Amino acid sequence: MFGKFSRRHFAKLAGLSALGMAARPADAAAQPAAERPSPASFPKDFVWGTATSAYQIEGAVNEDGRGRSIWDTFSHTPGKIEDGTSGDRANEHYHRYKEDIGLIRELGARAYRFSIAWPRVFPEGTGKPNPKGLDFYDRLVDELLKNGIEPYGTLYHWDLPQALEDKVGGWRSSETSKAFGDYAGHVAARITDRVRSIFTINEAGRFVNFGYGWGIDAPGLKLPDADVNQVRHHVALAHGLAVQAIRARGRAGTRVGPAENIAACVPAFDTPENVRAAEVATRELNSGFLGVILEGKYTDGFLQFAGKNAPKFTDEELKIISQPNDFVGLNIYAPQFYIAASDKPPGWSVLPFPASFPHMNSEWLRVGPETIYWAPRLAAKVWNIETIYISENGTSSEDKLRADGQVYDLDRIMYLRNYLRQLQRATSEGVPIRGYFLWSLMDNFEWIYGYEKRFGLYHVDFETQRRTPKLSVAFYRDVVARNAIGV
Ligand code: BG6
Repeated sequence: MFGKFSRRHFAKLAGLSALGMAARPADAAAQPAAERPSPASFPKDFVWGTATSAYQIEGAVNEDGRGRSIWDTFSHTPGKIEDGTSGDRANEHYHRYKEDIGLIRELGARAYRFSIAWPRVFPEGTGKPNPKGLDFYDRLVDELLKNGIEPYGTLYHWDLPQALEDKVGGWRSSETSKAFGDYAGHVAARITDRVRSIFTINEAGRFVNFGYGWGIDAPGLKLPDADVNQVRHHVALAHGLAVQAIRARGRAGTRVGPAENIAACVPAFDTPENVRAAEVATRELNSGFLGVILEGKYTDGFLQFAGKNAPKFTDEELKIISQPNDFVGLNIYAPQFYIAASDKPPGWSVLPFPASFPHMNSEWLRVGPETIYWAPRLAAKVWNIETIYISENGTSSEDKLRADGQVYDLDRIMYLRNYLRQLQRATSEGVPIRGYFLWSLMDNFEWIYGYEKRFGLYHVDFETQRRTPKLSVAFYRDVVARNAIGV
């Protein structure tokens, strides 16, 4: 009986969509958003935004004096990018930025996180700045402000000037940390009259291991553990030098912090023992970057585990690294570690993932909505953080443009609905999360996956550069308008 019903039901639905009568994004929130009750509201002044990064969307890689980055080199190395593409053209955002800001406006989101391409500003990484290097970002920022959208800049989203890689070994050298500090000061002097919040470095937790340890990301190196730990230390040092430089050369009151993919620990299930264990694990598993920034030292556990491969550092460097931050950005996608209390030292253990654990369209993107509750809650507790932003969260989806011109990304909506519920749970319990940036505004060059993975709210046809809102645009617009999730 049920089978019969569901077959007929299915046939009916299929028929409707063949006639072009499936629900349209515009229908999704027929009743004006503000008039619907909001059982699960976010705090007043909660910042809703979206995020992108320079190499993933800008294109225009040879324009206005831009130098090469390690991602130009890497993406043009055969076999490195799954679909053999590069960011040469990407979304042509360098020229289409006004249209793209229009997309943000359509969402009603009042904040936008973008990144500045270091090789546009200093084509050689250091030395003489390119006179045209910041012009594009000036235009972008002015256009954002004109549209009532608050700009949040990121200084480093993985596009290291190739010249620094060639001359000093990139992040293998503290010369690169110093160059980053200079670049940060230069940018701050120019844009902090309008950009009030700056993220220094995006996801050290990814590019250090992927780029320097496992050869997966640019620059594609497979260095021994000791060198990888030293690279991470240099990146932390670069963060500290940038904080100092921004304070010295930026407008007073400019806010600064990292945007880190915290090693996200989740208690296997909620008991006081497991929660406590997850707290301790959060501190230990993040000691190499977030921990040293926020505590000014590596934990004994981290140093013991690293043994002879531990990074070499001075007390002076630790002081620089641990300059106070104004906020901490956390990029949250998937649960990384489910933690249980243990009788054996160190008192906690990481549980193995069953092969059947569900994931989204990207295999690495396991579904764990509670991660966006636990990671900020535990981080706030462990390091006494007063202001957190979710600097990225989102998912890829098949994102097929249907014959009726629509993209029904119901899996993305399912993912976002569940994560945002947990985010609301966190804010309602007082976890100090002040804003959320959805990754991503539009489909873009997804690093080693090329254009095969789509994370955007807007679908992009990379042949025609046409942007089309997916169903999730209507979903997110509704959340933003109501500052609430659920009905
Ligand atoms: C984050 C990055 O790690 O995840 C983004 O900060 C990236 O730049 C996003 O696009 C998705 O990752 P991936 O590896 O699937 O492209």
